[in-house]
Amino acid sequence: MLDNGAIKSISAEARRRAGIAIPKGQTYLVEARLAPIARSEGYESQEDLINALAQVPEDRLWRRVVESLADHETWFFRDPAPLDHFMSDILPVLARIKARKAPIRIWSAGCGTGQEAWSLAMLLEEHKDRLAGIDIEIVGTDICSRAIDRAQTGAYSQFEVQRGLSIHRLIEHFKPSGNQWVLKDSVKRWVRFERGNLLKPQENLGEFDIIFCRNVLSGMTPDARKHTLAQLATRLAPAGYLVLGPGETIAGAGDLYRSLTGARGVYARTMDRQSKQAA
Ligand SMILES: C[S@@+](CC[C@H](N)C(=O)[O-])C[C@H]1O[C@@H](n2cnc3c(N)ncnc32)[C@H](O)[C@@H]1O
Repeated sequence: MLDNGAIKSISAEARRRAGIAIPKGQTYLVEARLAPIARSEGYESQEDLINALAQVPEDRLWRRVVESLADHETWFFRDPAPLDHFMSDILPVLARIKARKAPIRIWSAGCGTGQEAWSLAMLLEEHKDRLAGIDIEIVGTDICSRAIDRAQTGAYSQFEVQRGLSIHRLIEHFKPSGNQWVLKDSVKRWVRFERGNLLKPQENLGEFDIIFCRNVLSGMTPDARKHTLAQLATRLAPAGYLVLGPGETIAGAGDLYRSLTGARGVYARTMDRQSKQAA
C-alpha cells in the first residue's frame, strides 16, 4: 500500500503538471491507476515505481502517472442540450459573422477519447446541406497522449458506441471492423486531434469561435480552474463562446466571460484581450 508521503508527492505532481485535484481519501483510486503502469514499466509494485520516481524524476514516467490519474469518463452526445443549442442558435450567428470569409473554429478542450468532438462532427455532417460553402474545423485536445491516440483512431468498442449513440447514428456514421466500430471518413474529415495542456498558453492552436470545455474543470483544483479559464479566454475570438459542463461555472474568471440567458453552461467573451491585458 502507498504511504502518505507517496500519495502526497503524487498529488503534488498531478496538481503541478495538470491542475488535477486528487480528493483526500482516494488512495484506492491512485493505487488502482498506478498498478498497471508499475507492471508494464517492470516494477514489482506501485511503491517501487514511486520510489524510483523519487530518485530519478523521469519526465516521461511522471507524465504517464499523472495522465492516468485524470478522470477520462466520456460518452457520445453527453449532456446534449448545449450541442443542440450550438447547432440551432450559435452556429447560424457565427456563420453570419464569418460570412464565409474565414473558417468557423470549434475546440473540444479536454476531449478525452474523442466522443465529444466526434458528436459535434456527426451533427455537422447531418446538417451538411445547410452548411454548404462554410468552412468548419473541430480541434480536439487532451493532456493524455493515450486518450488522444485513441481519439485519433475513431474506433470504439460495442460498449462505447452503446453509450449515447442511437442505432440510427451508429449505422449512419460508423462501419463495423472486427469487434469495433470505426467512424466513416465523412465524419473524420471534420476533426483533428493533438495533445495539449490547458494550463499552458497553446498559442499554436490559434483562435476559436467556440470552446467546449466540459467536465474538465470539475476535476481540477480551484487555482487550476481559474488559470484554465484565463488561458481559454486567450484562445477565444472576441465574439466567441465558452461551453462548460453541468455544475461547472466561470467563478474565479473575473470579468472575462458573461452568462447567456436561456443557455445553461454557455458563456460569451466580454472584454477584448488587449483591454484586459492593459487593465
Ligand atoms: C471527464 S473527461 C471529459 C471529456 C469530455 N470533455 C466530456 O465532457 O465528456 C476530462 C478530460 O480532461 C483531461 N484533462 C484534465 N486536465 C487537463 C489539462 N490540464 N489539460 C488538458 N486536458 C486535461 C483529462 O485527461 C480527461 O480526458
